[in-house]
Amino acid sequence: MPAIAATAQDTTAQDTTAQATTASATDTTAPATAASSLTTDAAHDAADTAREVETSRDVDVAVSAAPARVSVLGDPSVPLPAPRTVWNGSAPRHITADTTATTGRPRPAWTQAIAVLLGAAALGILAAAAVAFVRALLSFPFMQDFLAAFPGEYTPAIAVEPGFAPWVNWAHFFNAFLIVLIIRSGLRIRNEKRPTAFWTPRNNPKGKVSLTIWFHQALDILWLLNGAVFVVLLFVTGHWVRIVPTSWEVLPNALSAALQYVSFDWPTEHGWVNYNSLQQLAYFVTVFIAAPLAAATGFRMSGMWPKRAERLSKAYPIEWARALHFPVMIYFVVFIIGHVALVFLTGFLRNLNHMYASSDAVGWTGFWVFVASMAVIALGWAAARPLVIAPIAKLFGSVSGR
Ligand code: HEM
Repeated sequence: MPAIAATAQDTTAQDTTAQATTASATDTTAPATAASSLTTDAAHDAADTAREVETSRDVDVAVSAAPARVSVLGDPSVPLPAPRTVWNGSAPRHITADTTATTGRPRPAWTQAIAVLLGAAALGILAAAAVAFVRALLSFPFMQDFLAAFPGEYTPAIAVEPGFAPWVNWAHFFNAFLIVLIIRSGLRIRNEKRPTAFWTPRNNPKGKVSLTIWFHQALDILWLLNGAVFVVLLFVTGHWVRIVPTSWEVLPNALSAALQYVSFDWPTEHGWVNYNSLQQLAYFVTVFIAAPLAAATGFRMSGMWPKRAERLSKAYPIEWARALHFPVMIYFVVFIIGHVALVFLTGFLRNLNHMYASSDAVGWTGFWVFVASMAVIALGWAAARPLVIAPIAKLFGSVSGR
């Protein structure tokens, strides 16, 4: 696997600098030759090092030429006239400087830790106050009337069969599997300063991107395909009525459900037949707003965007896409945390049976299928590394190291 070998052989900037330093330190007769084969930065470093070595040589020569000079002994800036036994090495100094530059973050001080604790305590107090306030509010007769009129869900305007067909279960599983890897690879793209491997499309040598970006986009395509199949089946089978609001009553009912959640007196769950309005809105926003937004902003930033369509590019500037793409990811993360928490807090055996076993019974089948699906996701997570990705990427283009 040459691509992997290239990745493994790849050296960081620091490695290169260190090698250059060693080369110029040991072979001071031709430091410029060593530097010429390096990148500009590394060449500068090597030249600096060579200069430093030269300077320290000069000092050595001066010191040995006048070993008994009192002024040298009295001046702390000049090395003592003893034979040098350890090379004062500029490489370690360079490495220290580089490491702080890349990690950059100072360690949090204890005052900051206390500030975080106080912030968390303040949030806790605010949350408790909100619960107390909403509970008090709901005890008023006019709010009791509101809850009676809008219990948190409404009867859909169009009749729909209860339950979940296996295709919903499968689409949901593929969606969860892919979105976990999409979020992970997306975050990796943001944090990756010097990618180690690249992918180039066969027909367009200018379309070279990092292997991480290729992986992210390949997952996006699979995710969109899965989403498209889901949406088509949603409308073919009539299941869409479950997750698309069919009445404006959804709004007051969603408010009612939200108040009930905050009061910890939660709305009755029977997702097999009908979602509560807040749940319906959340699913609707996720499938019909957040997912298309993620795709539209990602597409704008990708190499697939038609660069020649200048008017289109002007009408939809790439800056908009950049500004929106990350917040959309945050939305997905917040949705997933809230969604999974509620699945577990509102009768997890029954809920998991709905989505993982197509059954409304209270039993363990869905739970074990869910555990197996988590194991598959964990496997995918562990496999998401160049060693595994590169051979797949090679089927669609060429993979190279830095
Ligand atoms: C792996 C963690 C997840 C678990 C355990 C889980 C569980 C569930 C369950 C049990 C339901 C049915 C709720 C009910 O019957 O009341 C459901 C529905 C749904 N989930 Fe998830 N989910 C997960 C991840 C996700 C992710 C990552 C997304 C999207 C980003 C998502 C989107 C949806 C949608 C749109 C529905 C409604 C499906 C429909 O009725 O057509 N879920 N989920």
